[in-house]
Amino acid sequence: MSLKPNIAIDGPAGSGKSTVARELAHKLGLLYVDTGAMYRAVTYFALRSGIDVGDEGELDTLVKDIRFSLVRFTKNNIVALWCNGENVSPHLREKEVSRYVAKVAAATIVRECLVRYQRLFARTGGVVMEGRDIGTVVLPDAEQKFFLTASLDVRLERRGKELQAAGKSWTKEELCRELTYRDEMDLKREIGPLRKAPDAVVIDCTNLTVKQVIEKMLESHGGG
Ligand code: DC
Repeated sequence: MSLKPNIAIDGPAGSGKSTVARELAHKLGLLYVDTGAMYRAVTYFALRSGIDVGDEGELDTLVKDIRFSLVRFTKNNIVALWCNGENVSPHLREKEVSRYVAKVAAATIVRECLVRYQRLFARTGGVVMEGRDIGTVVLPDAEQKFFLTASLDVRLERRGKELQAAGKSWTKEELCRELTYRDEMDLKREIGPLRKAPDAVVIDCTNLTVKQVIEKMLESHGGG
């Protein structure tokens, strides 16, 4: 039995998962794990080494060579993803990475490998893990599960602001195309598609601030 709880947060891109998960982890003194960043890291390595992201054989060799670790800065509770001793976090929002990540995330071998790592990160409890399949596949026994939703307009606005803050310039059209394409890929993927776990609490974040979402989560957390 784990000493600290594991909390699973799933939802589509731009639903506010990342900010909420990071804040919640900070409040509860848990480790924040962004699984999307892991899929992005594999994509970054694939593009950097010039392999064909549609070729499962090439992805197989690549992903098995990546050693993931999480580096937590206690001062601001930021968790950076390192791969093979390299901090890849600054590269994960690049346009090319965003363009190809859904394809990489659909590869069975990549999912198997990353799910194994994600379970390892959570094995002693105490993580707030966000993604698409955390409550359903990665941590079906998580003590708490949340599924966040928001309207497409709000999701586009949030994603635009995140990218702007990261110094990336996208037009609204580019963003809309990218988000709807990834939604479709995430939903129709055979393995680990975006799904609400039957026991997840759904929170519609369209008209809620981050603080309000966290309050709702804490209410439900306290209530067991
Ligand atoms: O949350 P994000 O936008 O950074 O995720 C990047 C991509 O990775 C997205 O297309 C969905 C995919 N992903 C996934 O398939 N499973 C996860 N657990 C997390 C992300």
